[in-house]
Amino acid sequence: MSIRFGLKMTASAVILAASAAVSATVASAASVEVLHWWTSGGEAAALNVLKEDLASKGVDWQDMPVAGGGGEAAMTTLRARVTAGNAPTAVQMLGFDIRDWAAQGKLANLDDVAAAEGWDAVVPDALKFFSKYDGHWVAAPVNVHSTNWVWINKKALDAAGGKLPTNWDEFVAMLDAMKANGITPLAHGGQAWQDATLFDAVVLSMGNDFYKASMIDLDEGALGGARMVEVFNRMAKLRSYVDDNFSGRDWNLASAMVINGEAGAQMMGDWAKGEFLKAGLEPGKDFECIRFPGTQGSVTFNSDQFAMFQVSDPEAQKAQKLMASAVMNPTFQSAFNVVKGSVPARTDVPDTAFDACGKKGMKDLAEANANGSLFGSMAHGHAVPASIKNAIYDVVTAHFNGEYSAEEAAAELVAAVADAK
Ligand code: BGC
Repeated sequence: MSIRFGLKMTASAVILAASAAVSATVASAASVEVLHWWTSGGEAAALNVLKEDLASKGVDWQDMPVAGGGGEAAMTTLRARVTAGNAPTAVQMLGFDIRDWAAQGKLANLDDVAAAEGWDAVVPDALKFFSKYDGHWVAAPVNVHSTNWVWINKKALDAAGGKLPTNWDEFVAMLDAMKANGITPLAHGGQAWQDATLFDAVVLSMGNDFYKASMIDLDEGALGGARMVEVFNRMAKLRSYVDDNFSGRDWNLASAMVINGEAGAQMMGDWAKGEFLKAGLEPGKDFECIRFPGTQGSVTFNSDQFAMFQVSDPEAQKAQKLMASAVMNPTFQSAFNVVKGSVPARTDVPDTAFDACGKKGMKDLAEANANGSLFGSMAHGHAVPASIKNAIYDVVTAHFNGEYSAEEAAAELVAAVADAK
């Protein structure tokens, strides 16, 4: 008995000593726990650029991945963690979600690092609207993505006549030709945020004023009018080009269908380019990137930002500032965004290291910003708060799955948005 008891004591003592050593190491090194949803091949490759950059600055990375494109699952996990009083130190976050957490007083103040590094002068106002709350920096923007892109397999395009579509009719003609060639014209995953990503582009193709009136100002006439009915008609047309197994498919598996030639095109934000690059494909040679036909000159954007939650441990606060500073470094923003498919969140990063799609992305963004044709993406939380976004998602997905006619969907949209307001 006493021997066994003695042995047990020894074992517990070893475990205690070991965990004390671990916490000593964690406490002495700057360490961040990062909640994110970058789990696809291309996303993980970009995340590694960040992890390695932080490691080189002595910041230890504790990974908290929550899979699920668009980040809804990650946000659910975040709410549970905050409710349990155990918020992660840094969180990948989009648009209105950042403002929402800031309004609840949960985010740390990054003003000193922002002032020391002159962030105000290099981050465009459209991003600052989300990075700053009540005049204080609460998040560090790592990139700008945009959602109104189409990714096209070059061989499939050539077999379909080789002409890049510039308007809706040409887009439909290309998809018809791909169908006739025996491939799935449009690779899509039936998840609400992916349906909404298509919807973003189709709404934008009906005009900048219409996008602003319906998705940002939530004007009832725009939400329920004839143009919205046409949007839903076009969504139904797009639905006819999707394969039978689309339901629930992850976005990166849809990208893989275009990469391997099983499908012709995917309408998706430029994180899709990360998958093409990871697979060794080159823009212009193996795939093409175009703005969704009818949206040339306009951009619907979303920006991944790292919001820092309030923590009391001074070491953790130090690590948060080191991370924010690393994320905002211009050399890092180039290296990271080249892999991620997005473009830098700073206006002073050269486009030299970017491929043709990245260069186009940077040019489009700068021009759209200057011309008043840059809008927050509804699908990715940059047009309206989450409650309204989710109400729009429900209608868009129900219509995509055949539950409503175009006219019914437009009427439902007005009602759903009114209820959510
Ligand atoms: C994020 C991207 C991410 C994509 C798919 C978007 O909301 O902004 O960074 O790659 O979702 O997961």
